Amino acid sequence: MNLPLFVKPLHEGSSKGITDSNLCFDLKHLFRQTEFLLESYKQPVLIEEYLPGKEFTCAVLGNGADATVLPIVGMNFETLPKGALPIYSFDAKFVWDRPENPLDIFQCPARITQELQASIERVTLDAFRVLGCRDWARIDVRLDASGVPNVLEVNPLPGILPDPADNSCLPKAARAAGIGYEELIQNCLKYAAARQGVDLDHSLSRTSGAQGAPALAASASA
Ligand SMILES: Nc1ncnc2c1ncn2[C@@H]1O[C@H](COP(=O)(O)OP(=O)(O)O)[C@@H](O)[C@H]1O
Ligand SMILES: [Mg+2]
Repeated sequence: MNLPLFVKPLHEGSSKGITDSNLCFDLKHLFRQTEFLLESYKQPVLIEEYLPGKEFTCAVLGNGADATVLPIVGMNFETLPKGALPIYSFDAKFVWDRPENPLDIFQCPARITQELQASIERVTLDAFRVLGCRDWARIDVRLDASGVPNVLEVNPLPGILPDPADNSCLPKAARAAGIGYEELIQNCLKYAAARQGVDLDHSLSRTSGAQGAPALAASASA
């Protein structure tokens, strides 16, 4: 591996333990920061090459050959305070991005070339399939120094905050594809049912009885 390196706690999420200090230009800093993370988070630490290029997050819906990537979300780190590293750190997620003063950090669909879009979609679907993701996921991707998309992280249980003001990427990508929140949730249920060989309409009509209009069928036809 080549310097600079990036360290992060193995088991955390939501950018816990992700700060600008995790970027290490020399081994002395690498050892110090790794020790700090080991001590603070009581878990192994991942050491990766730092990917200096643009960052994207990609929502996937479906299974097998039918899995598709929703419009790609691009991260605009220029909205972070001056001098901040272009990473989606804990501060970027929870300190600088406040409901009363939201950061305009996401661009969806990301304005990128068709060629880059195709290679991001390819690596996203490859990761989704090879890791056995099911129904939906959100995959973080970042470009290396030569512009090649690398998978940063796979989120098999992605955040799905319903309020558009909450900057939640999967519902945002779905909205960009014309899929509303309820439809998104229903689609996920349908993919899971199809994967399990469950006839959803039949099961719902059996469990909800004659008079109970099944919520799914009701809003699906609305
Ligand atoms: N190898 C890396 N190179 C550059 N930036 C990274 C690297 N790994 C993580 N990051 C930055 O840290 C953020 C959080 O890391 P990630 O692995 O996605 O964990 P999580 O989102 O679960 O906290 C990423 O969105 C990215 O901005
Ligand atoms: Mg992430």
